[in-house]
Amino acid sequence: MNIVSLKNVNKIYQTGEVSFQALKNINLEVKIGDFLAIIGASGSGKSTMMNIIGLLDHPTSGSYILDMQDTSHLSQDNLAALRNKKIGFIFQSFNLLPRTAALEQVALPLIYAGVPKLERANRAREILEQVDLGEKLNSNPNQLSGGQQQRVAIARSLINNPQIILADEPTGNLDTKSGMEIMKIFNNLHSEGKTIIMITHEENIAQHAKRRIRIKDGEITG
Ligand SMILES: Nc1ncnc2c1ncn2[C@@H]1O[C@H](COP(=O)(O)OP(=O)(O)O)[C@@H](O)[C@H]1O
Ligand SMILES: [Mg+2]
Repeated sequence: MNIVSLKNVNKIYQTGEVSFQALKNINLEVKIGDFLAIIGASGSGKSTMMNIIGLLDHPTSGSYILDMQDTSHLSQDNLAALRNKKIGFIFQSFNLLPRTAALEQVALPLIYAGVPKLERANRAREILEQVDLGEKLNSNPNQLSGGQQQRVAIARSLINNPQIILADEPTGNLDTKSGMEIMKIFNNLHSEGKTIIMITHEENIAQHAKRRIRIKDGEITG
């Protein structure tokens, strides 16, 4: 069954008088449990596609169906609720809060979900242990390596138990060894049944996915 379905999606950015078409008639279906890599050079439209799939931006035209729900006419509040429930985000630059310990960082989304304090800490600890950071619960981002920071970000993305993990260039700021560790975690998540959509410009990273599509100048080329 499809969890993500983009139909004839176009995205046009308008900057003053200038318009730029970043996505051209994109058709994409992602099945539940898929591990997909979207590969393309810088400027090809990868992040634009990720923002649409992640409900952070709307297509200019075309439709996006997420888990059988047409997202075109949802209010901002409903979009945010759907996003928080279904999607975990991982970014190239980790996007962690400064001066905030790993445990707190990962537990934070649970505050908004109304989970009591002790349970928040227990769940955050459990997930940090899964990404091999059981020893770093009290470390702030500036006390962690890039690979460790990205693993905190992965733990944070998992805390609400999302169905989909959306990762935009997750290894882009990492050395090869740390990148491989991240791919190992993605492989484990894939075996647990998560749907993973990973954006990358690196072929060797894309090889870890089970399926690959390529994007060039806003078009899927294969
Ligand atoms: N907010 C924006 N306004 C105008 N143009 C944009 C905007 N965001 C991205 N673009 C343009 O759209 C194209 C695709 O960008 P992006 O999706 O970020 O590519 P990628 O992630 O593959 O590097 C680029 O040419 C970029 O300059
Ligand atoms: Mg990008």
